[in-house]
Amino acid sequence: MIDAQLGASDPAPFTGLLPIPNLIDAAKQGNAVNLRAMSGRHAFIKGKPTRTYGYSAPILGPVIRLRRGDEVAMSVENALDTVTTVHWHGLLVPGHNDGGPQQLIKPGDTWRPVLKIDQPAATLWFHPHPHHDTARQIYMGLTGMIIVDDGSDARLGLPRTFGIDDLPIIIQDRSLSADGAIEYDNGDSDPLEIIYGARGDTIIVNGVVAPLAKVPLGLIRLRLLNAANAQNFELRFSDRRTFHVIASDGGFLAAPVATTQLTISPAERFEVLVDFADGKAVALETGPDEELGVFGRVAPDGSADYVPIMRFEPMATKSIVRQLPERLIDPAVASPPSAVGHRQFILNSGLCASRPTTAAEHATMPALIGINGKPFDIERIDAEVKLGTSEIWEIMSIGMAHPFHVHGALFRVLSIEGSSPPAHLAGWKDTVLVEDKAELLVAFNRPATRDHPFMYHCHILEHEDAGLMGQYVCA
Ligand code: C2O
Ligand code: CU
Repeated sequence: MIDAQLGASDPAPFTGLLPIPNLIDAAKQGNAVNLRAMSGRHAFIKGKPTRTYGYSAPILGPVIRLRRGDEVAMSVENALDTVTTVHWHGLLVPGHNDGGPQQLIKPGDTWRPVLKIDQPAATLWFHPHPHHDTARQIYMGLTGMIIVDDGSDARLGLPRTFGIDDLPIIIQDRSLSADGAIEYDNGDSDPLEIIYGARGDTIIVNGVVAPLAKVPLGLIRLRLLNAANAQNFELRFSDRRTFHVIASDGGFLAAPVATTQLTISPAERFEVLVDFADGKAVALETGPDEELGVFGRVAPDGSADYVPIMRFEPMATKSIVRQLPERLIDPAVASPPSAVGHRQFILNSGLCASRPTTAAEHATMPALIGINGKPFDIERIDAEVKLGTSEIWEIMSIGMAHPFHVHGALFRVLSIEGSSPPAHLAGWKDTVLVEDKAELLVAFNRPATRDHPFMYHCHILEHEDAGLMGQYVCA
């Protein structure tokens, strides 16, 4: 467990090396990729292994590199004792390949979608999506990363040696019992727990507590993924060094954006470049979650302070990249006048101003969890959009900030909390944290039928499982 005494000045706990997931380079194996959703054993606390889930691994899964233009034959075997699905979060594929809650894989079955990769370079991920059990399955460990490669890394001269100067950094929080077991409660018994979402006081990075990454002296690319169920991470370095955001969910930004702090909400990704040429060791820290509405603000360890979550130690090897590019790409233009529709989505996690006191109040609270007053219904199509068009979607959050995600499409943030988006949120995205209100220009380029519609939902997984989700068709 991370507690206050493990401050940045005390490197003692940061001794276990950062695990680097297995890289599957699809093109190098004939564009055929096999995944196996399975249970395993993993020790979060030394000497105390516990039951976990993973994709072809005891916990988490591989990083799958896919090349733009390729067709990839995926096979996903379900070796769990429960039904699952695999959703390729951020991958632009038709609804029948998207792995949403309709695409159930029974225990013992194998799902074989063929994925046509056609989108700009980006860091994506994959995870289960069976309605009512998504949160638990991800909490148990089912999470993997996808890298879409379109050749721009080499052209831009970016750090791109996987596991050396290009590191997957999957950040999650867990609640562990004294014997090291994952404690998961989906909050069924207490609506307030659903609203709050599953949060733990132990932060894990790539599945382990307080790891150490030895990095070359130079620019290192971190592919940050918040794969927590509910927690927003407020990231910064212990010495407050400046780093540069180069990409968000949908791919590269126009130019690197300098910052010293970065908020990353559940399911968001940011690629950042950090300069370790000074050779100084530094901790990556996370601070109090500011987006909790009436819950106030709280750090993972229960305090209101920043806590170190991993440590970087530069090594005196020759670095591969030293130069920060000035410009990255010219992102495809977002043109609001071309939008053919306007819709409003009100996200409500059932938050009341005060704690419900009567049983009757308790009973009515879960019903309030939904979008535009309706909880998710797998039989109901909530929106029909036209393939090849864009719409303006206005998202409003009630009670607390919700990370809003759309399947099968990318969007640009036109405005957020009444202002134009900060530079690092100005690129193409698939998930955005909405505290109050956002206007998104959503571009629909993939088809989805009534049998396999696309989802849109809050990515606080307990909210999603409780019904803060809708579905749309695109034709
Ligand atoms: Cu990360 Cu509906 O997905
Ligand atoms: Cu939510």
